[in-house]
Amino acid sequence: MTGKHFQSLEKRSSLKAHQELVLEDGPRGPLRSALLPQCISVFDLACLSISLWACCSSLVQLVQLNALLWDNTASAVTVCEMTDGDRSVELEECVGNPGFLEERVRGSGGPAAAAACAEATGVGGRDTGTEYTQIRPYAGMPKEVLLLYSGQARYRAPRQVLFWLVIACILALVALTVAIIALSPRCVGWWQVSPLYQVYPRSFRDSDGDGVGDLRGIIEQLSHFEYLNIKSVWISPFYRSPMQDLGYDVEDFRDVDPLYGTMQDFEELLTQMHNRGLKLIMDFIPNHTSDRHRWFNLSRSRDEHYKDYYVWTDCNASAPRPNNWVSVFGNSSWTYDEVRGQCYLHQFLKEQPDLNFRNPHVRQAMIDIVRFWLEKGVDGFRMGAVKRLLEATHLRNEPQTDPCKPPESFPSEWDLHHDYTTSQLGLHQLLQEWRAEMDTYSREAGRYRFMVTESYDHEEVDKTMMYYGSPLVKESDFPFNFYLLDLPQNTSGLWVQHLVHLWMTNMPSGRWPNWVVGNHDTPRIASSAGQSYARVINMLLLTLPGTPITYYGEEIGMENINVSLSQMQDLAGKYNASAGRDPQRSPMQWSSNMNAGFNSRTNVTWLPIHPDYNNVNVESQKEDNGSVLTQYRFLSHLRQSELPLQRGWFCSVYADASVFSYLRELDGLDRAFLVLLNFGKEATVTDLSSVDKLPDLLTVVVSTVPWTAGRQFPKSSIPSAAGEGLVLQYSSQQRFNAQPAAHCYVSEKACYLGVVNLLYKC
Ligand code: GLC
Ligand code: MG
Repeated sequence: MTGKHFQSLEKRSSLKAHQELVLEDGPRGPLRSALLPQCISVFDLACLSISLWACCSSLVQLVQLNALLWDNTASAVTVCEMTDGDRSVELEECVGNPGFLEERVRGSGGPAAAAACAEATGVGGRDTGTEYTQIRPYAGMPKEVLLLYSGQARYRAPRQVLFWLVIACILALVALTVAIIALSPRCVGWWQVSPLYQVYPRSFRDSDGDGVGDLRGIIEQLSHFEYLNIKSVWISPFYRSPMQDLGYDVEDFRDVDPLYGTMQDFEELLTQMHNRGLKLIMDFIPNHTSDRHRWFNLSRSRDEHYKDYYVWTDCNASAPRPNNWVSVFGNSSWTYDEVRGQCYLHQFLKEQPDLNFRNPHVRQAMIDIVRFWLEKGVDGFRMGAVKRLLEATHLRNEPQTDPCKPPESFPSEWDLHHDYTTSQLGLHQLLQEWRAEMDTYSREAGRYRFMVTESYDHEEVDKTMMYYGSPLVKESDFPFNFYLLDLPQNTSGLWVQHLVHLWMTNMPSGRWPNWVVGNHDTPRIASSAGQSYARVINMLLLTLPGTPITYYGEEIGMENINVSLSQMQDLAGKYNASAGRDPQRSPMQWSSNMNAGFNSRTNVTWLPIHPDYNNVNVESQKEDNGSVLTQYRFLSHLRQSELPLQRGWFCSVYADASVFSYLRELDGLDRAFLVLLNFGKEATVTDLSSVDKLPDLLTVVVSTVPWTAGRQFPKSSIPSAAGEGLVLQYSSQQRFNAQPAAHCYVSEKACYLGVVNLLYKC
C-alpha cells in the first residue's frame, strides 16, 4: 500500500470527520466523542434524575413562594395606606418587616407614612372578627392571619395548581428515568472500546541500559499507545521474583522487582497512564508462588500458620512420585523437599510450588493482595492459569489418554486427562470472590475494574465459557479466546470461519467476545502463519466484534527470533527445546538505531534483536503510509469511530478455501461494512451476488494492498490477492441480520435513531 492510499482515504468526508475527531480527542479519548451517539449509564441516569428532580421542585417552590410574597407585599402596602386614617387596626408586625417598610416608604413618600403604618392598630389576635376583613395579607404576617387568608379561593386555587404541578413533574421525571433506563443500551466500557495491548516488560524498552526492559521504559513509550488509539494496557508481571519463570514465579506480591524499577516507578507509571486516559491491567498469579517466597519457607519448616499454605503429601525421598501427575513443563509435578521431608505439588516449574486454596488463610491472603493493588489504583487483572487453582484431595492417578502406554513411562502434559488437577469444584467460587472484591472498587465513579482469565481448554470450549460466570454471578469480563492461535494450522477462509464461529456460537448470550493471536507463551503469528498474513490477521482482529488483544510487536508484524541453546533464557525451553518461549519475547523494535531503539545506552539486550529490525520497526513504519503499523492504527481508529464495527451485528456471509467474508451492520444506520479476507495461497475473485441484502456496488475503505481512492467493486466480483484483506463500505436500509437463516451475532442489540443521534434498545 502506498502513502497515497491513506491520503485518499482521508478525503472521504464521513470517515475523515470520524478520524479527526478521534485523533483530536485529547488524552481522555474518543469515549467522549461528540459524533458517537451517547448511551447512558445507570450512574449517569441516577445523577441526572436526582439533579433534575431537585432543580424542578426547588424551581416550583421558588415560583410559589415568590408569587405569594409578591402578592402579599403589594397587599401590605395597600393595607398600610388604607389603614393610615383608620386607627381601628394595628399592624405592629409590618413595622418589624424591613421589606414592608421599604415598600411603605417608597409607596407613600417618606418616614411620616412609615410612622403612620407603625401606629396602625387592631391585629395580632387582640381584636377579632370584622377587623380582619379590613386588611390584606402582607409579608411577615403572623401564622393566624396567614391561615385566615390561605383558605380564600384566590390563594387556594393557585396553591393547588402548583402542588399538582410538582407532583406531575416528579412523576414525569420518574417515568422518563425508567423509560431511559429500559431503552438505553449499555455503554461500551473502556475495556471494550479499544484493543488491549500486552506489554512484556522485559522486552518493551530498557531505560537504564542493563539490557532488560523496565517500568521507566514503558513510561518513555506511553505515546505509542496513544498513537495506536489503545486505551488499555496489560503489563506482564513485574513483581519481585527470582525470574525462574521470568516473573511468573513471585517472591513478593507486594513489591516490584529491582530489575524493573521501584514501587515509586510503578506509581509514576500508573499516574502517567491515568493522566493520558490509559488503563493499566496487571497480572495476578494466584496458582503458585516462587519457592523463595516467605510463605514457602515458613511452610516447609512447618510454621503453625503456614504449614498448609502449599499442597504437601508424604512420599518416598528416593522416588518422589506420589501419583502420575505431570507438570506443564514436563516431568512429575511433585518434588521432594528435604527440609520438610515431604513432597510438594507444582503444576509448573519445581521453583513454583502450588498454593493450597483449600486453606482459608491462603484465600484471604490472596484477596488481600488483590485489594493491595486495587487500592493502588490498578484498573484490572489478568488472572493466570486459573484452571489449576485447585486439585483433587484424593491424589488418585489421572487417566492416560493412551491406556496402552506403560504407566511407568514418563507422560507429558498431553498424555493424561487432567481430571484431578484442573477445573475442580470450587474454582469458580474463588473467581467469584475475587470478582466481588473488584466490584466493590468498581463502585468508585468511572473506575470500573476489569478481569480477564487465562485458561487453555482446547476442545473443551464450554469450560472456557464458564469463566464468563452466570447471568446472576459474574466472573471475568471475558476469558481469553485462544482459538485464533490455531489459525496458522490451516490458512483457509473456511478454517478461520470455523474458529470465529466456535467462539461466537458457544459464548453466553449478551457477553463480549475477544480475540488473541499472540502472547508471550505462543509463537508469533507472523512467523507461524507467515509474514504475508500479518496484515490480514490484524484486519481480522480489528474488524471482528469484541476486544482485539495485541501482543507487543504485532502492530508492526514482528516475527520470532532464533535462539541458540546458549542464548536460551526460558527454563521451559531447557526441559523441552521446542517448548521454549524465548523466540516470541525478543526486544521491541522501535527504530533502526542501536538495539532497535530498545536499549539506546549500552550494547546489551537480554535476548537477541530480530535481524529484520532495519525494516520492521515503529519509526520507519510510521513514515510509511502502507505499513503494517499504519494499517493497524487506521483500523484501530475506524473500529472505534464506526458504530457498526464497535457494537453492531457480525454476520458471516461467505467462506471458501481462501476467503472469509462477513459484514458489520447496525439497525437504523444505513452505513455498513463488508470485510473480505483472503487467507488462502492464491488470488481469487469472490462472487457475493447471492447476498441479496448487499447493494451492487461496494466502496473500498481500506485494503492491505495498494488501491486507488474511491475504488468500487461490484458485489458479484470482488478480487483479492493471497493474504489481502479488504474493508468495504456500503449504504443500505436492508438488514442482513433480519434473515432467518443468517449466521449473525451481537452482544447487545441496539438501534440507531438518526434524528436524535441516539442509540436505543430494540
Ligand atoms: C501463565 C503464564 C506463563 C507462565 C505460567 C506459569 O500461564 O502465561 O508464561 O509460565 O503462567 O506461571
Ligand atoms: Mg494449583
